[in-house]
Amino acid sequence: EFSSSITSVVDVEQKVEALLKQMTLEEKIGQMNQYSGFWDLTGPAPTGGNAAKKYEHLRKGYVGSMLNLRGVENVRKIQKIAIEETRLGIPLIIGFDVIHGYETLSPIPLAESASWDLEAIKKSAEVAAEEAAAAGINWTFAPMVDISRDARWGRVMEGAGEDPYLGSKIAIARVQGFQGSDLSQHTTLAACAKHFAGYGFSESGREYNTVDVGTSTLNNIIFPPFQASIDAGVRTFMNSFNELNGIPATGNRYLQRDILKNKWKFDGFVVSDWGSIEEMTAHGHAKDNKHAAEIAANAGSDMDMESYAYVNELAALVREGNVNEAYIDDAARRILRVKFELGLFEDPYKYCDEQREKEIIGQQAFHDASLDMAKKSIVLLKNKNQLLPLKKQGQKIALIGALASDKTSPLGNWRIAAKDNTAVSVLEGMQAYTGNQLTYAKGADVSLGKTQFTEELKINTTDRSEFPKALAVAKTADVVVMVLGEVGYQSGEGRSRTELGLPGVQQDLLEAIYEVNKNIVLVLNNGRPLVLNWHNEHIPAIVEAWQLGTQSGNAIAQVLYGDYNPSGKLPMSFPRAVGQIPIYYNYKNTGRPTLPAPGRVFWSHYQDVENTPLYSFGYGLSYTSFEYTNLQAEVLSDKEVSVSVMLKNTGKFTGKEVVQLYI
Ligand code: GLC
Repeated sequence: EFSSSITSVVDVEQKVEALLKQMTLEEKIGQMNQYSGFWDLTGPAPTGGNAAKKYEHLRKGYVGSMLNLRGVENVRKIQKIAIEETRLGIPLIIGFDVIHGYETLSPIPLAESASWDLEAIKKSAEVAAEEAAAAGINWTFAPMVDISRDARWGRVMEGAGEDPYLGSKIAIARVQGFQGSDLSQHTTLAACAKHFAGYGFSESGREYNTVDVGTSTLNNIIFPPFQASIDAGVRTFMNSFNELNGIPATGNRYLQRDILKNKWKFDGFVVSDWGSIEEMTAHGHAKDNKHAAEIAANAGSDMDMESYAYVNELAALVREGNVNEAYIDDAARRILRVKFELGLFEDPYKYCDEQREKEIIGQQAFHDASLDMAKKSIVLLKNKNQLLPLKKQGQKIALIGALASDKTSPLGNWRIAAKDNTAVSVLEGMQAYTGNQLTYAKGADVSLGKTQFTEELKINTTDRSEFPKALAVAKTADVVVMVLGEVGYQSGEGRSRTELGLPGVQQDLLEAIYEVNKNIVLVLNNGRPLVLNWHNEHIPAIVEAWQLGTQSGNAIAQVLYGDYNPSGKLPMSFPRAVGQIPIYYNYKNTGRPTLPAPGRVFWSHYQDVENTPLYSFGYGLSYTSFEYTNLQAEVLSDKEVSVSVMLKNTGKFTGKEVVQLYI
């Protein structure tokens, strides 16, 4: 086993060097060029940019990778050009955003993180890899490992929350899930640790905004999940749009060469984010795209995603002596290395099996894994007087909220390969429990359209016309289940918010329903922490159900009816006010951490809100209760302390508990 892996490494390096020697400068630069193509077999070639040029470059061997090309037939068509029409027949690596599933979606990563269940998270990534690989894909732009303490930022949904330790563990689980133990298998994908680095610290939570952090935050909070990804064997990195401490990450030599390639000895390759090389001009950091190409290549960005910078400018820059050809060799070497490791040279069509695609995609086993992951991702925030779990017989239950029947929003915003309306809604999940009388009323829209790339149209934001119907249903119900929160496109990339309440008129609806029936179970569908003070004050039961993917409604129903005892713990603090942000559990003490005497003001606090979050990192309730006794700590050496505790389930339900130790 060991010797074979040794020969395979030596073997790969020899093959890379032998191939590199045959390549012209333009062909090496071609490996560094990635095009996007929402490929349409009947329509023209790749979309976006100069589609005809892309085809020409493909034939010349000036393209090393495609993204947004999917489906065995489409991938085979393009791979065939690379293999048969170019001089050297170097296979393309096919990348896609398999962020939390491919067509069968698991919960958004922030939700999966709430499970704290590393095996389940790894399994979820394995399933995503197997399904995407069956569609011709061999590289995913995941895991996103950006730590963030700012719920205003829309992409917190994509990460593992605020803690570098939990974030590192989850990064390892996801990389191992995607890549498996053998990257050359046709069921595994090369993973991509992104976005390097600091994107989650965008100033004021505004998307793509400037990042300026000190060395302590950089080294202790931001870097660890990236280092953990390398320890887990991640084969690619993606850099980030943001400027970091004065220099855009894409052109940041300190990040990509000094730290990533030299100090951490990363031997995979770095892909830019979409257009981030060209965007250094907008940053004011480059004069033009040629200057941007020079900066990015010298700084260690190996592959250009959709800037057309390397393919158009890099050869001249080398010939003019502004970029050392050794850097081109290094970048091409890294990219070829990963392609050899994927087995693409042995069989460039190994991911292109039409029969397998038909059999694998959407199979029941993937739905089962998605449901298991979804149940474990749910966090019980409040359950006064044990209103939950619901009785299964003889109850009149009102189900209210547009999101309760929404079969698309639970898929989140990274769902390019998933079809709309394929999630199990809460309504459908609850209808599977036939012992009660279930009546649904929308009450109000969440207020937004269903667009992916454009600012949502403001529709129905003030429409209260359906309130009376919802009130009538609620008035006579034993229990009202309200599903409120954000539509799928209200979090994710390009979706920063300055307020963290319920969008549209949902809060008015909730308060109107509360007037006629106080027995409310609030189920939240959201992609980020929200401000829930009024809810925590008035609503007896609150369930954080994020966006749980394809099996969302079944998972939520099974938790509400007690067939699964909620076990999730928050991976990110829920603030009492937006003004507290950034807020996180491992804050520093400051020199004046406590109130010196009643009424005094000179200590670290606000006048209007207490310092603590409403719900803290690591918080989550259960239908049962757990007792911790007999806590013991023993010093084993100058580096080791062993801590033990007796944990006892003292309630009526079997349940899971995440025992947490903070030092
Ligand atoms: C996007 C995202 C990045 C994604 C890439 C390809 O803009 O920032 O996370 O992988 O472009 O879609």
